[in-house]
Amino acid sequence: MKSVIIGFGVIGRVHAEVLKNQGAEIAAVCDTDSSKLSGFGCRSYCDYIDMIESEKPDVVHICTPHYLHADMSVECLKRGINVLCEKPMCISEDDVCRISEAALHSSAQFGLVLQNRYNAANLFVKKYTEINPVIDGFGIVNWHRDRKYYASASWHGKKSTEGGGVLINQALHTLDLMQWFIGMPSEVTANTCNFMLKDIIEVEDSAMAVFSGDRKFSFFATNTGSTDFPVEITLKTDKDYIKILPDAVMLNGELIDFKKDNRILGKRCYGTGHEDLIADFYDCIKCGRKFPIDAGEGGKVMKLIFGIYKSKGEIVKL
Ligand SMILES: NC(=O)c1ccc[n+]([C@@H]2O[C@H](COP(=O)([O-])OP(=O)(O)OC[C@H]3O[C@@H](n4cnc5c(N)ncnc54)[C@H](O)[C@@H]3O)[C@@H](O)[C@H]2O)c1
Repeated sequence: MKSVIIGFGVIGRVHAEVLKNQGAEIAAVCDTDSSKLSGFGCRSYCDYIDMIESEKPDVVHICTPHYLHADMSVECLKRGINVLCEKPMCISEDDVCRISEAALHSSAQFGLVLQNRYNAANLFVKKYTEINPVIDGFGIVNWHRDRKYYASASWHGKKSTEGGGVLINQALHTLDLMQWFIGMPSEVTANTCNFMLKDIIEVEDSAMAVFSGDRKFSFFATNTGSTDFPVEITLKTDKDYIKILPDAVMLNGELIDFKKDNRILGKRCYGTGHEDLIADFYDCIKCGRKFPIDAGEGGKVMKLIFGIYKSKGEIVKL
């Protein structure tokens, strides 16, 4: 299968490493910044339309800033090219609809990179909570993003290009896992705030949300920590307390270790799931199987995020 990558920055290179490890053919990479393209050893382009029309790939990996995901996904799907898009799916409700429509009418598949769903500990909890439904839970993301991080790429920290702050970027994975384990709530009451990064970013550095209605859980995320603390998810079923730790699960006080099953590529905070997710996406395409994280599934966490942004302390129907 012939693959190409659009956006050859930090995560584009992780995708390239995974594809190389898996023996895939990377025909070309594309980046508007030509300095990112030198020395990779395949054809390179500065214009992605030019690349997909010339290369006619089977799979496009979209690894660009958030505001470009929707247009790029739609252009590829329209041409019958399979899309594996980095999170977030997009930055507006309208974009979710555009991608979903394009996927519905395309012969190709749309897949979203929510790689934490492929970590061994999270897969264990997913199976466990399918049999033992969660009745309440909470999640905490307390990470460190500072002036240096936000200066590292001009699209960071701006509503028009990142679509938001900690919530749509760093905390999205954890919020997605929570709805994956617990199910979609029907209401949210939330607030976002910029506590510590006012002179650096125009978007939120912190967010707090209480989800209610059909499913119940609460969530706190901030980029103001002095380090990237381990993400915390705690779930309550009728009979259990489940605490998800990095590479382990504490089930009613008993530690179940999954470290041996995980291999880190890229930064530690990306988790260990890129390899397994990308392998599964390619397997789905080869076998004609539906990739599980499609536009409908990827759109769920976007619904939660847009609900939080809308809420401003008032209850919002999701
Ligand atoms: N799944 C994860 O854990 C994870 C981790 C990091 C980043 N990401 C996501 O990956 C995406 C990229 O993040 P990054 O950290 O690699 O950013 P980055 O800024 O390092 O890389 C983005 C690249 O896209 C290029 N680009 C911009 N406009 C373009 C265009 N029109 N055509 C082609 N290339 C263009 C930029 O020049 C840059 O090299 C984001 O959506 C981000 O949220 C996901």
